[in-house]
Amino acid sequence: MAFPESFTLELLNRTDIVDIVDKRVPLKKKGSEYSANCPFHQEKTPSFTVSPSKQFYHCFGCGAHGNAIGFLIEHDGLTFLDAINYLASSVGLEVPKSNFQSPEKKQQSSNLLEALNIANIYYKSQLKKSRLAINYLKDRGLSGKTAKDFSIGYAPDGYENLKSTFKNYQDETLIKAGLTDKSDNGKYYDRFRGRIMFPIYNTKGDVIGFGGRVIDSEKTPKYYNSPETPLFQKKYELYGLLTSRKAIHDEGYAIVVEGYMDVVGLAQFEIRNVVATLGTATTEFHIQKLIRYTSEIVFCFDGDRAGKSAAWKAMNNSLSSITDSVQLKFLFLPSKHDPDSYVREKSAKDFQNLARQALPLTEYVIKYLTTDNDLVSQESKVKFLNNIEPIIMKINAPKFSLLFKKRIAELVNLDMSEINQVIGKVNKQKLPTRQKVNNKIQRKILMSSTRKFSLLIILNPGLAKKEDLHMFQSDLHEAKLANAIIEISLKDTEYNMASIFHFLSNRFGEKVIEELNSQLATVGEMNCELEIDALRTNLKNKQSAIEKKNTLNQIEKKGNTNLLSDEDKDFLRNITKR
Ligand code: CTP
Ligand code: MN
Repeated sequence: MAFPESFTLELLNRTDIVDIVDKRVPLKKKGSEYSANCPFHQEKTPSFTVSPSKQFYHCFGCGAHGNAIGFLIEHDGLTFLDAINYLASSVGLEVPKSNFQSPEKKQQSSNLLEALNIANIYYKSQLKKSRLAINYLKDRGLSGKTAKDFSIGYAPDGYENLKSTFKNYQDETLIKAGLTDKSDNGKYYDRFRGRIMFPIYNTKGDVIGFGGRVIDSEKTPKYYNSPETPLFQKKYELYGLLTSRKAIHDEGYAIVVEGYMDVVGLAQFEIRNVVATLGTATTEFHIQKLIRYTSEIVFCFDGDRAGKSAAWKAMNNSLSSITDSVQLKFLFLPSKHDPDSYVREKSAKDFQNLARQALPLTEYVIKYLTTDNDLVSQESKVKFLNNIEPIIMKINAPKFSLLFKKRIAELVNLDMSEINQVIGKVNKQKLPTRQKVNNKIQRKILMSSTRKFSLLIILNPGLAKKEDLHMFQSDLHEAKLANAIIEISLKDTEYNMASIFHFLSNRFGEKVIEELNSQLATVGEMNCELEIDALRTNLKNKQSAIEKKNTLNQIEKKGNTNLLSDEDKDFLRNITKR
């Protein structure tokens, strides 16, 4: 099937590559771009970048490069068509069946984003017309400006209001977008009725869903949200991020709250570095999204029981995203308060003071686990260690982890080596499986130390030395390959695996590249410098032994042993014995 280029372009136009990549490879913001460790080759420092303005990814390490479609093909292993279908459904575009689509059909295939955008405009216009809704917002202390900043709207009472704005009210797209629903007897009706509407934007500025709050407090549920759609998944999205990300960047930290009205209410008091989760606990995706903009996140919770349990959940979900450069903090409001009510009763200053005093994650965890545990008896200390162990084990940040353990050691009156013994226990029990895997990998590469040396040089071209060129002097393929790798590494002043591979594929063919690539994927974590040094010594010894043996054999053949030194004679004897 010939694929219309115009469709592909429109698709790419609507897609944000940053989101596509970020869901698979968590990105961090670096200047105007995003970066991460490259998913296409092994590396310890990130050379993989994604450019939101150019909408492509590029790895300075391995040369991987492409747009969102290319990324899905390379990373997820999708076919071109599958990648197109995937992207189309996630932005709500219908993939054209053929080039010769009827104009009516094109008209019909209006899409989710367009529908949501039209609905948003409609709801905003309805707010202007509704005294009731305006008064409700005024009563809650919101100015017209704040309502405008967040594009707040109103869905009037009544079941078929959207009929007036959509040409085809029965269009399935409206159901897919979560704007309408169909009753059992086949009647279509508005999903949102008599509610203040909070549009939820993605960071590209598209409306991807809505949250609707009742005005009439008799009605339930209090909040009603868009269903999960291809465009809108709560675990990925944060309310307010579009409007708050500049403030998050400027203030240097993000505040995460639980409700729409908390974001809006705080903004009314000029506190704008705020986002809300959407009726779910904070997920690792939320955190990864936020640490693109800032390295400090303050989770804000109501002081009640629900708030406490939400905080514990958020803490657990965040552990795997912690690095030594992010700081997570926990803020608990006085009971009966949420951020919106607190800032209104007190002041912006008071709220900011609370945010400043938020507990760092470690202190929060300790406080939580010692609320009912005085750490006096041996048993209570054991209990504490048991509780904290799984938390520590999920943290991958070395400095953070070390200091956390140190603090725990002090609390239970142990020293660090003792703590490492008990908390490391789980570590050590888990290790054998990893160790086994590593050994397997090592064995695989140990097939030949020449190959292992080659692989490590490809990974660290900077570690190649001129003298390495004399190490492999045989005519065997393996030695030639190694020499070529050393040669090109010495030429390259900058780390560039792509150029090495390019060079090798010209000389040795694609097959070798594939083989090297798959072997590279199995190289585990190791100190490459030490490893290379050890191999070098080993290989040099082997090489010089071979050389010596050759010379000696030559001499021996000629029967001219008089020319040999005593040392050489010894060597010769040993060699021939073997
Ligand atoms: N929420 C929801 N569905 C509900 C109740 C709550 O999705 N039935 C989500 C909404 O995102 C809401 C948040 O949970 O904003 C917090 O709920 P809650 O504390 O009950 O509401 P408030 O934010 O305090 O809302 P308000 O101040 O308008 O009463
Ligand atoms: Mn509230």
